[in-house]
Amino acid sequence: MKNIDEVWIVDFGSQYTQLITRRLRELGYYSEIITVEDCLKVIQESRPLALILSGGPQSVFDDKTDYSSFFTDPSLPVLGICYGMQLIGQYFGGTVVKGISGEYGKAHIVKKKHSELKDKYDVWMSHSDHLENPGSELEVIFESKNEYIAAVKHINKPIMALQFHPEVHHTENGDDFFNYFFDSIAKVDKNLEFSSLLEHCRVYLKSFENAKVLCAFSGGVDSLVAAQMAYEIYGESLYCFFVDHGLVRYQDNHHIELLQKNLDFKIEVVEAKDYFFEKLQGVSDPEQKRKIIGKSFIDIFEKKVKEYQESHNIEFTHLLQGTLYPDVIESISPFKGKGKSVTIKSHHNVGGLPERMKLKLIEPLNKLFKDEVRQIGSLLKLKDEWLYRHPFPGPGIGVRVLGELTGDRVRKVKESDQILYEELVSQNLYNKTWQAFTVCIPQKTVGVKGDGRAYEEIIALRLVDSVDGMTANFSQLPYSFFEKVASRITNEVSGITRVVLDITNKPPGTIEWE
Ligand code: XMP
Repeated sequence: MKNIDEVWIVDFGSQYTQLITRRLRELGYYSEIITVEDCLKVIQESRPLALILSGGPQSVFDDKTDYSSFFTDPSLPVLGICYGMQLIGQYFGGTVVKGISGEYGKAHIVKKKHSELKDKYDVWMSHSDHLENPGSELEVIFESKNEYIAAVKHINKPIMALQFHPEVHHTENGDDFFNYFFDSIAKVDKNLEFSSLLEHCRVYLKSFENAKVLCAFSGGVDSLVAAQMAYEIYGESLYCFFVDHGLVRYQDNHHIELLQKNLDFKIEVVEAKDYFFEKLQGVSDPEQKRKIIGKSFIDIFEKKVKEYQESHNIEFTHLLQGTLYPDVIESISPFKGKGKSVTIKSHHNVGGLPERMKLKLIEPLNKLFKDEVRQIGSLLKLKDEWLYRHPFPGPGIGVRVLGELTGDRVRKVKESDQILYEELVSQNLYNKTWQAFTVCIPQKTVGVKGDGRAYEEIIALRLVDSVDGMTANFSQLPYSFFEKVASRITNEVSGITRVVLDITNKPPGTIEWE
């Protein structure tokens, strides 16, 4: 970032690299991930506050790259983690040996050398090669039970290396090691302030002069914060569009109305229910539904752009997006595309507008994590209840009615979702769950309503606790809450006699049902 000094995390491909960045930012050190190649290119001219060499799946014996430029400036602090430790060990004359059994999982480490760290820690190990002998320049500060070297520091340079992963939560008090590195070894002060992050975003936005900006506005925290910042810079040259594809919840329509009343920039609601419904008719395959919804979003935006060209003589030049740092990190990972990952679900946000529209991207949040975006939103005086809404997927209710969409089933989800939402809010439980929604199962079951037999469809309740949606546990809210919700749904939503609760964790279940 232009106005903030950075700690660079050199990505050797560990699955935990993103976590290191998050941890450091939470501790107050602004850090960014950099690829090995980029770091080797720029390290001679630019000096970061410190370098963190991440873990990685390879072996130092197979890596012939010359990393001496990481160590030529004797005052540049370097912290190696796992693979990074082996590189440091090798560079400073230690002996790294090829792993036979290695160490995986929890390990107990014991202090060897006086420092302000505690005497013992339980840590998370995941390595096969290891540093067997530290050589004459490194001294051992922690050893694991089986006498593997667990941590070393340089005798007179600001360099430290850890064989374990302080960034994962399985390591007890992992932050102690980061704090020790920054305070006692690197002597680097905390430097992350949300006001500077905001200032950086503003400088970035100002660099797009005379832009006519189109914003696909969902009302979620990312597009809200991006649009509010952009409005301060572009004023009336920002045009926000909320596409109502008929697959949004009542709370989303209300939310947009509320934002329209409370915010200075204009949000145009694009009515597109019929268009989406027509395209989705007769389609029951989840992947096909997702693709059709994604493609229809693009069609609607293309139409809007044309309409503004023809009727208002406005030529859009840029597309504003609330892309966050995790999406960017994924796309720069050195192993992207090399693995054999299968598509579980085609996610879509209005990300890929087609080339032919010739819109340049503006992504002011692409160095930030969600919690930082929320903090910036607070600085912009956006309300907490807008910034802490649950996530809602682009395809919306389209993937919450199983199989083919019908107007009646969409209504069942909308009405039941509204009841669930109202109860969460009124019972003060909204912030006790990460995401909560209802799903229509188009299967009739028998019940009794009044004095008669009912043969109607099912609503499932899905409530999960999560940090980032990658893994999740079902939310264990009080039974009395579920009872009230089920009772209201069966009484108030016509066509529903049975309510079930999804108690599957992710994995193996995904959060959405389709
Ligand atoms: P899954 O179902 O994959 O969901 O466990 C993880 C998180 O992602 C959300 N989700 C989406 N978000 N576009 C989005 O913007 C999508 O197509 C999409 N599909 C799932 C889901 O709601 C959960 O928060």
